[in-house]
Amino acid sequence: MPGFEIIDSKEYNAVNRLFKKENGILFAHGFNNLRKNYHVREFEQNFNKKLKSKYTLAVSSGTSAIKIGLLSIGVKRGDEVITQAFNFIATVEAILDIGAKPVIANIDNSLNIDPLEIENLISKKTKAIIPVHMLGVPANMKEILKIAKKYKIKVLEDNCEALGGRFNKKYLGTIGDVGVASLDFGKIITCGEGGTIHTKSKKIYNFAKEYHDHGHQNNPRKTRGTDTKKIYGFNYRMTEIQAVIGKEQLKKLDYIISENKRRYFAIDKIVGKYLEMRTIPKGSDLIYDTYIFFVKNKLLKKQVINLLNKLEFGTKNLPDAIEWHCSFYWDHALSKKNIIRSKISRDILKTSIAIPIQLKKKINDYKSLAKELEKIFK
Ligand SMILES: Cc1ncc(COP(=O)(O)O)c(C=O)c1O
Repeated sequence: MPGFEIIDSKEYNAVNRLFKKENGILFAHGFNNLRKNYHVREFEQNFNKKLKSKYTLAVSSGTSAIKIGLLSIGVKRGDEVITQAFNFIATVEAILDIGAKPVIANIDNSLNIDPLEIENLISKKTKAIIPVHMLGVPANMKEILKIAKKYKIKVLEDNCEALGGRFNKKYLGTIGDVGVASLDFGKIITCGEGGTIHTKSKKIYNFAKEYHDHGHQNNPRKTRGTDTKKIYGFNYRMTEIQAVIGKEQLKKLDYIISENKRRYFAIDKIVGKYLEMRTIPKGSDLIYDTYIFFVKNKLLKKQVINLLNKLEFGTKNLPDAIEWHCSFYWDHALSKKNIIRSKISRDILKTSIAIPIQLKKKINDYKSLAKELEKIFK
């Protein structure tokens, strides 16, 4: 995921300007007489424009965005939230942190939530579904929204791994009731740490805005010290430093995706015809940051992984870090029932190989890799 690969003078100059020309105001709120800009607020507007989102709130991380998102759609202690077995622990942590119960659905060959599983897992306590658009590919939002509507359940899209991707021409993260992105250092764009929350609902936005800032309403008629409040919250604010970096990175998002795409198809053109690929739901626009296929034969799989390591491509989280990304291994956080059920997903993931697309590598590097893979699979 290449955001960090192309941090350059643009981000450096933006931070420098903040210190040299804007009095070094690093806080997103107040200091009205000293500051010249409100960078976090601008960053949010830029996101709205880019994703065609009605409201965006910038926060401290993707994990906090999921937690705030869940609270803002009314998930409470004791409620159940369905999410998927191929994931990152952060999604489960956010559910647990508000006292709700994670219920794990298996994935299908798209490596995202299997819509057929969701209906079986819905109970009277189910309040929300979190589809996770893993490694650049959209979950089947059409089917998920249909089920959510039928059972009157909210949908929170965890879009930490597919920012810039689309489903039926709509940007991921803006399709469900609420959507979140991560801007941590491993993501398609980054500001070190950070996250965003997107929604069409003013009510959800207002709750999230107040909650992430200790309940502050940022009432324009009041000073920060005399500000009005309705709820208590927490501190999940983003800083101006993160925002100036994020604004520069957001401008690079389309370029990153188009460069990813060139590398992705450099592989696919040569070797794609021999491979059993991850299924892509109809109507998807990918971010092409990972090339994923299945290899069921253990010896062949070993051969491919050795090749990827020898040529210094690595295999990202499949199978490299499968234990961090598959709920079958999370008995420190999940019930036995969830662990046992996740075995189906573990078995799918165990046959998957992910080639990370990196911008520091040239198109020809990917062509050479594909030719080596062709020798194995032809
Ligand atoms: C699917 C998924 N959800 C949530 C997160 C959490 O994001 P952050 O690291 O910004 O807290 C990540 C980050 O790795 C992720 O991949």
